[in-house]
Amino acid sequence: MNLKHIAIFASGQGSNAAKIIEHFNHHAFIKISLIVTNNPKAKIIELAQQSGIPFHLTNKEEFFSEPSIVSLLQYHQINFIVLAGFLLKIPASLIQAYSNQIINIHPALLPKFGGKGMYGIHVHEAVIKAGEKESGITIHYVNEEVDKGNIIFQEKCNVEVGETAESLSQKVRELEHMHYSNIIEQCMAQ
Ligand code: GAR
Repeated sequence: MNLKHIAIFASGQGSNAAKIIEHFNHHAFIKISLIVTNNPKAKIIELAQQSGIPFHLTNKEEFFSEPSIVSLLQYHQINFIVLAGFLLKIPASLIQAYSNQIINIHPALLPKFGGKGMYGIHVHEAVIKAGEKESGITIHYVNEEVDKGNIIFQEKCNVEVGETAESLSQKVRELEHMHYSNIIEQCMAQ
């Protein structure tokens, strides 16, 4: 089988990216071939260097100017893009070039608590404030509308009495680490 190449896009702590890299290390036909970040302080840069994965540090201006990112991905023969805490909106040119080949993980049960400004701890704060009894994760395809692409997978967790945004964030992160790599693998087998 031909090797399939994944690019991971991440902006923050990079814990999901780290799990995905670990999962696909020595995989028979899937390789993490590029890391893209817009944050010069992202832990993922260190991780990329340690793992010998090429990385690209971008910024808003470059990311939204065509066709540089698409050309970069093509240069690295990328087949599939995984967003793991990536905070820039994906430009239409990239979505068109990788139609149904970009997925994202969101730390809540979409369609609730999604859209502009809903990322990281802000999502968990909103869930707690709304008095939700459950939250969870959503893995979905990326389209032009933020957090509105077709849902591939969801998993729930309880929001306990006295739960804080921080404790909920930890619970949700555990679910993300448990499922994201397997779902990526399933999507790429299709
Ligand atoms: C994850 O919880 C992910 O779901 C969230 O950012 C976190 C990144 O954590 N993404 C969003 O909120 C996107 N709207 P990580 O950097 O440790 O993987």
